[in-house]
Amino acid sequence: MHDFMPELTCVGCGPGDPELLTVKAVNAIKNADVIMCPTSKEGKPSIALSVVSSLIDKDKNPEIVNLVFPMTKDKDILENTWQKNSQIIAESVFSGKKVVYLTVGDPYLYSTWIYLHREISVKHPDINITVIPGIVSMFTFASKIGISLAEGAEKMAVIPSCYDLSKVKEIAKNCDTMVFLKDGRYFDQVINLLREAGFSKDSIFAIGQDLDTDKEIVKKLTLGQVTEDTITSKYFSIMVVKRV
Ligand SMILES: C[S@@+](CC[C@H](N)C(=O)[O-])C[C@H]1O[C@@H](n2cnc3c(N)ncnc32)[C@H](O)[C@@H]1O
Repeated sequence: MHDFMPELTCVGCGPGDPELLTVKAVNAIKNADVIMCPTSKEGKPSIALSVVSSLIDKDKNPEIVNLVFPMTKDKDILENTWQKNSQIIAESVFSGKKVVYLTVGDPYLYSTWIYLHREISVKHPDINITVIPGIVSMFTFASKIGISLAEGAEKMAVIPSCYDLSKVKEIAKNCDTMVFLKDGRYFDQVINLLREAGFSKDSIFAIGQDLDTDKEIVKKLTLGQVTEDTITSKYFSIMVVKRV
C-alpha cells in the first residue's frame, strides 16, 4: 500500500505545433515532476519532447527521461522494450512523483503508449492512469489541405504502410478515402494498387511530410499527376487518396 495515489498521465502532443495541444495537456505538462518521452535511439532527441519543450515550467524543472523504443519488428525486442520501459515508468510513479508520458498525435493511434498502457495496467493495476487525447496527424493534414477525409456515406481506411500490403487493393475497392501512415518509403508501392482498385486519375492525391516542422512538405495534386519524384523518402509521412 502507498500513502499517496500512484498516478500516471499520458499526454497526446499533437502533430508538432505546440499550439495544437489541449488545455488539459498543457496543465499536465506544467505540473509534471517527471516527463518521460519516447525516442528511437539512445541520444536521439524525442520528437514528442521537442513539440512541448516551450511549455515546460522552467522553475519546476521536471526530470526528463528519454525511453528508447528501437524501430524494429522483432517481437522479442519489442516485448523486452515494453517491459523495461513500463517498469522504469512504474518505479518513478511509485516514488511518489507525478509522471507524464508524452506521445505524438493521439496516444491510441499507432503509439508506444498502447503497449506501455497494456503492460502497466496488468502488472501495476494500482496505478491510476489518465490519458489525454491529442490531435491526430491525419486531421492536421486534412486541415492544411482543406479536404474532408469522409463525408456523408463515404468510407475511409487507415493503413500503416510498412507492413503486409496484400489486402490493400481489396480494402481500397470498398473505400472512398485511403489514408496511409508510417514510413513514406513504402507509399509508391500502393499507387498502382489504388489505380487497380478503381481510383481514377482525377482522384485527389495529397502527401504531407514532417508536418509542423521547418522541413514540412505538403503536396496536393491528382492521382494522374503523381510521378516517381512526387514522394520523398521520410518516415513522418501521410498520404491521402480520395475518390472524386
Ligand atoms: C508511430 S505513428 C504515430 C501516430 C500518432 N499517434 C498520431 O496520432 O498521429 C507515426 C506516424 O504518424 C504520422 N505522423 C505523425 N506526426 C506526423 C507529422 N508531424 N507529419 C507527418 N506525419 C506524421 C506519420 O505517418 C508517422 O509515420
